[in-house]
Amino acid sequence: MRWLLGIFVCVSCVYARHEQYDKSALFNVKVKDVEQINYFNSLDYPLDIWMYATQERDGIVLVPKDYVQLFQDELNSKGIEFVIEVENIKDSLELEDKLRADKARNRAMRSDNDLLVNFDDIYNLTEVNNYLKKIAEAYPDVVTLVNGGKSFEGRDMNYLKISNSKFEDASKPIIFIESLLHAREWVTLPATLYAIEKLVVNVTDQYLIDDFDWIIMPVANPDGYEFSHDGGRFWRKNRRNGLLPGDVCLGVDLNRNFDIFYSLGSSNNVCSDIYHGTSAFSEPETQVIRDILHSDDRIEIFLDIHSFGNLILYGWGSGDLPENAFALHVAGIQMATAIDEVKEDWNLNYRVGNSALVLYPASGTAMDYGLKAGVPLSYTYELPARRNSGSTIFGFLVDPDFIKPSAVQTWEGIKAGAIFLRNTRRNLA
Ligand SMILES: *[C@@H]1O[C@H](CO)[C@@H](O)[C@H](O)[C@H]1NC(C)=O
Ligand SMILES: *[C@@H]1O[C@H](CO)[C@@H](O)[C@H](O)[C@H]1NC(C)=O
Ligand SMILES: [Zn+2]
Repeated sequence: MRWLLGIFVCVSCVYARHEQYDKSALFNVKVKDVEQINYFNSLDYPLDIWMYATQERDGIVLVPKDYVQLFQDELNSKGIEFVIEVENIKDSLELEDKLRADKARNRAMRSDNDLLVNFDDIYNLTEVNNYLKKIAEAYPDVVTLVNGGKSFEGRDMNYLKISNSKFEDASKPIIFIESLLHAREWVTLPATLYAIEKLVVNVTDQYLIDDFDWIIMPVANPDGYEFSHDGGRFWRKNRRNGLLPGDVCLGVDLNRNFDIFYSLGSSNNVCSDIYHGTSAFSEPETQVIRDILHSDDRIEIFLDIHSFGNLILYGWGSGDLPENAFALHVAGIQMATAIDEVKEDWNLNYRVGNSALVLYPASGTAMDYGLKAGVPLSYTYELPARRNSGSTIFGFLVDPDFIKPSAVQTWEGIKAGAIFLRNTRRNLA
């Protein structure tokens, strides 16, 4: 009886977890001119735009159950073509759970080296923090675990400093990589965990640790990330509350909260997924990243890892080009090329460019703030989303079979960036 009850409780909790997304539909919107693009990108009823539309690319949007009919009618009346990619996104969420559970079952039967990550699942916050602690304890000469501060809800903002010269060699540039600033972009986590593994546990490119110091923060938005596991899978922002009576909406888009063009390309509406907060750096999470960026003028590469879109983007988010745009572009192309060389056939080539031109204007981003803080090579990566053979896009959902390839491919890009930096510094010397 107790056993039966246990099953029942668990099944119902899994179901309850995705109930809020029941009958939400994922639309692919085939915009064909600037007017349609602008219309799509300015939609403001509670739609969740996963991919903004551009001249080259369809828009992708998750439409809540109550708006599905309205949205279709509106697209039809405007003569905009669309395809419903997923009728009920809850089915996709349950598929993700199932695929992950299958892997976990297999894994339980293996004995693993617990300093090597299993790149067939997405670790949750507790697991990441345990891993960071273990790595730091096992490799005290190269790894330092730093608690950079607390998130809004009081979780630790942990990161690793990785160096074989105790961060004391002034001639080494620092590479700072961070992921999960947006909570739901789960596939970005393995990219930073893999970097840690390749710099500490399974070093095959010694020059990466001899010639560079590293700062790696796998979970830049711990509250949002935890919530995306146990609250709502498609949560993007942090979890600041108290902004509206009864918290009808909450959370700040951390990637709009940095002090650079603040509020020019973001939303003042708390309910928006790109709500910029009450002021620049109002959020403890962005303050921690700001402080890292200012902590050492040796930081020469900053990568803010997001998903999805197969893009390597640089500033400014306003559309103006920074003084070093040429170097940013060349290094970006080298990173993209390195990734493209190892990617799967189904995967799109990376595109490289100014974020406003390639994607859309945005203000208050980590990438732009990195540049403002003096980091010359500051980028947003948008990692690929898995597509199945029918080319349905998984979007933010993770296919466990694509975790390792994604991490390995991204690492090729990071390495190419490091090599670019080393070569240009050598030429300057
Ligand atoms: C995180 O994973 C651990 C198992 O490793 C589990 O006990 C815990 O409940 C998980 N937390 C969340 C929020 O899913
Ligand atoms: C170490 O990394 C290499 C490639 O970078 C890989 O082929 C090898 O399997 C890794 N070793 C372990 C124990 O994971
Ligand atoms: Zn993002």
